[in-house]
Amino acid sequence: MMLALRGEGGPGVPRRALMIGAEPHPEFGDWPEIVGWQPFKPLADAWERAGLAREDSPHGFYPLVLVMPGKSRDETLAWFALARDLLEPGGRILAAMPNTAGAGRFEQEFARACGGVTSVQKHKCRAFCSNPDASWDVELLGDWKNLGKVRQVPGTGFVAQAGLFSCDHVDPGSALLAEHLPGGIRGRVADLGAGWGFLSDATLRRCPGVAAVDLYEADARALECARINLANSDRPVGHHWHDVADGLPGTYDAVVMNPPFHRGQDTRVDLGRAFIAAAAGGLRRGGALYLVANRQLPYEAALDAHSFSWRHAGGDATYKLIHARKR
Ligand SMILES: C[S@@+](CC[C@H](N)C(=O)[O-])C[C@H]1O[C@@H](n2cnc3c(N)ncnc32)[C@H](O)[C@@H]1O
Repeated sequence: MMLALRGEGGPGVPRRALMIGAEPHPEFGDWPEIVGWQPFKPLADAWERAGLAREDSPHGFYPLVLVMPGKSRDETLAWFALARDLLEPGGRILAAMPNTAGAGRFEQEFARACGGVTSVQKHKCRAFCSNPDASWDVELLGDWKNLGKVRQVPGTGFVAQAGLFSCDHVDPGSALLAEHLPGGIRGRVADLGAGWGFLSDATLRRCPGVAAVDLYEADARALECARINLANSDRPVGHHWHDVADGLPGTYDAVVMNPPFHRGQDTRVDLGRAFIAAAAGGLRRGGALYLVANRQLPYEAALDAHSFSWRHAGGDATYKLIHARKR
């Protein structure tokens, strides 16, 4: 991205810029006024640790808006439309992404919206930039903006948003865990990596003895959807924008979770292990953990390492359910 900024035909480095999907880079430290928007807490924390300014929701107008790829096609197109809404007259949008994230396809789509781009390719990545006199296709941008709106999860009464885990259907693993949650769970429950709130909702519905549920989720937009999805709960619900790898601030009688095992396109078993460590730290002695995971994910050793007693509690060809107790 820095290469594209300074390269021939690039926008140069104006004093002010906004980065959508912000991720820190050493060279951003010299930028007089760069502001980042990043809904994913670990990356938002990394941005702030680098000494860079952050906004909870992007607003204002900028001469340059930088765009990183979202997690899905709809999300990335919605971010292009958002970038256009935040652009000063004569300003430029610069997007950068790896080829494996569909850079070539997104460049073509973006060029359709702005009438042509300046583009560079290097290190298996592509950066492409609108021109100051771009002729924007307002109708197409309107369609893209709609792709990013909060919408109903088909066939359910829940809402979600493009880019969130399982935004178009209930995850089958989570559904399996919900079906097998014992109705006798009592007390305070934490839902780790709560997403848009499916497991919290199931816990509250199935377990009348549950006094309160706390959702811990790294994606701020998922939490906003969870707030809507759980608005009618008859018991207290806490929403925490939180990196579970940092541990839990409270103590709980039970934890439910379907831990993440991807960051971007990488499989990350260490994330699930960090979630198990957080559950161990947050549960009272004798507290219960209800976990669903893809069969091939090796979480059993982490449960042993954190002194859980545990058993496989069913599953299917794809998923395993684990019930564990903190000793
Ligand atoms: C497999 S999804 C499960 C979502 C939801 N519980 C469900 O069952 O539909 C894992 C969730 O963990 C969130 N997540 C990923 N890394 C996280 C982290 N470090 N701290 C907290 N949440 C995280 C993701 O955003 C995602 O919503």
